[in-house]
Amino acid sequence: MNKLDFISIAQTPSDMLRHLLDAAIKLKAQRQKNGANAPIAAGRVLVMIFEKPSLRTRVSFETAMVHLGGAAIYLSPQEIGLGQRETVADAARVLSGFCDAIMARTFAHQTIVDLARYSNKPVINGLSDHSHPCQAMADLMTIEEHFGKLAGLTLAYVGDGNNVARSLMLACSRFDMKFNIATPPGYELPETQDPASAAAALATHDPQQAVRGADIIYTDTWVSMGQEAEKESRRALFQPYQVNSALMAQAPAHAIVMHCLPAYRGLEITEDVIDAPRSLVFQQAENRMHFQKGLLAAQLANF
Ligand code: CP
Ligand code: NVA
Repeated sequence: MNKLDFISIAQTPSDMLRHLLDAAIKLKAQRQKNGANAPIAAGRVLVMIFEKPSLRTRVSFETAMVHLGGAAIYLSPQEIGLGQRETVADAARVLSGFCDAIMARTFAHQTIVDLARYSNKPVINGLSDHSHPCQAMADLMTIEEHFGKLAGLTLAYVGDGNNVARSLMLACSRFDMKFNIATPPGYELPETQDPASAAAALATHDPQQAVRGADIIYTDTWVSMGQEAEKESRRALFQPYQVNSALMAQAPAHAIVMHCLPAYRGLEITEDVIDAPRSLVFQQAENRMHFQKGLLAAQLANF
């Protein structure tokens, strides 16, 4: 069976990434023009497995399914007990007998890999400790809407070398963008030997150096879900990496600000910066729905 999993940017061919972006752009325009999308996923069901909390991912996937004429089922950590109440493989086999696609937000990335292995329906990574590919693609959609292009732009990521940073680095490399990253020592994105992977154009511990000449300044929380025990130590260590007006003064005047949200205002980003006209954070959040709608349309309706 030919199924289109979306597990990571690294495992998705570049022409498919472009196709998914174009599908999202078409469906966004269709809804804006006609007030609705065609019900191309009528009768189709997406199951959403969450081991962690979510606002955007849950609501954007569920809304996208409704817009396409289908439905979504939310499974909370308590309900499913993935890997505890039953094995990931058994859950995958059972769910793929009921539904048409599975979206999972997990701690271990391997759980999503295993779901995809044992499900005969497409599996989507809705965030793992390793990566957040739907976020990165919605972000590229937002960047392209703003600049009218992707190739040649530079994105500077300031903060933790985490799941969001990894997906952004890979996505930037696929669309010929430069990716700069500034992290505290010890919080870098690990180097990888994977040939499908990418390298940062600049990996530094100096946030000012990273943002100089950049078109997009991007940050994320210093404490990802599952790292709550490190909250105090991380907050102290990451303070010099705050995206504030002093750092933005080092970036070009045309540079935009992005954050995947949820934002911890006053920590990784200041109120004045996230609420400034150059901040695209809410357009970025809305595009989660549009990108994922394009992805679901491709998976469920050959769009
Ligand atoms: N950006 C993002 O994935 O948000 P949620 O954690 O609210 O889904
Ligand atoms: N890096 C964050 C992203 C939240 C959307 C986390 O994993 O918690």
